Amino acid sequence: MTLQGLKIGIAFTGSFCTYKAAIKELEHLMKEGCQLYPILSFQAQKINSRFGDACDFQKEIETICERAAITSIETAEPIGPGGFLDLLIIMPCTGNSIAKLANGITDSPVLMAAKAHLRNEKPLLISISTNDALGMNFKNIGLLMNTKHIFFVPFGQDAPDKKPNSMIAHLDLLIPSIKEALQGKQIQPVIR
Ligand SMILES: Cc1cc2nc3c(=O)[nH]c(=O)nc-3n(C[C@H](O)[C@H](O)[C@H](O)COP(=O)(O)O)c2cc1C
Repeated sequence: MTLQGLKIGIAFTGSFCTYKAAIKELEHLMKEGCQLYPILSFQAQKINSRFGDACDFQKEIETICERAAITSIETAEPIGPGGFLDLLIIMPCTGNSIAKLANGITDSPVLMAAKAHLRNEKPLLISISTNDALGMNFKNIGLLMNTKHIFFVPFGQDAPDKKPNSMIAHLDLLIPSIKEALQGKQIQPVIR
């Protein structure tokens, strides 16, 4: 299966330590011939951290995707009626956004995009990166795993000794995960 010409929404939330690796995946997807539509959560747009400044990340993402990012709820909403995305990926997806998505909360551009896209019964792929995956958010991840049209990039514990509840997606499996999700399938094994 080729990804040439596919329209893919790439939604960034505030897991800043994952940005470098996630941005590298944007380059891979562009090389595959995808049309990328970047979307940034409000926190992704404004938090400057030791990993970099928000505006620099936004510029880099927009440059690679060759498109201005969707940065508001009102500009994310047309993804629903327009129905133009083949797939939406939340990468990286924070514990905060996982919890909200699992509970039907739609208060950021990323969550609005997810709600709008799911309305069209198209695949949503989640690439998690959160210190509370096996803690407060375990139940929410389980809920989303059991939800129609939602798929996960395989993930595992990244630092079981220091951060026993932390789990992170294996981004080297992003493209195989996309191919499965487009066929309505969860790539397996999902925990690795
Ligand atoms: C430097 C820094 C790194 C962070 N890394 C993560 C992370 O890897 N995973 C996570 O779930 N939250 C992380 N957070 C917390 C989120 O940014 C915070 O929960 C935020 O409200 C997320 O909002 P969003 O999901 O709308 O983007 C981090 C925060 C900061 C300041």
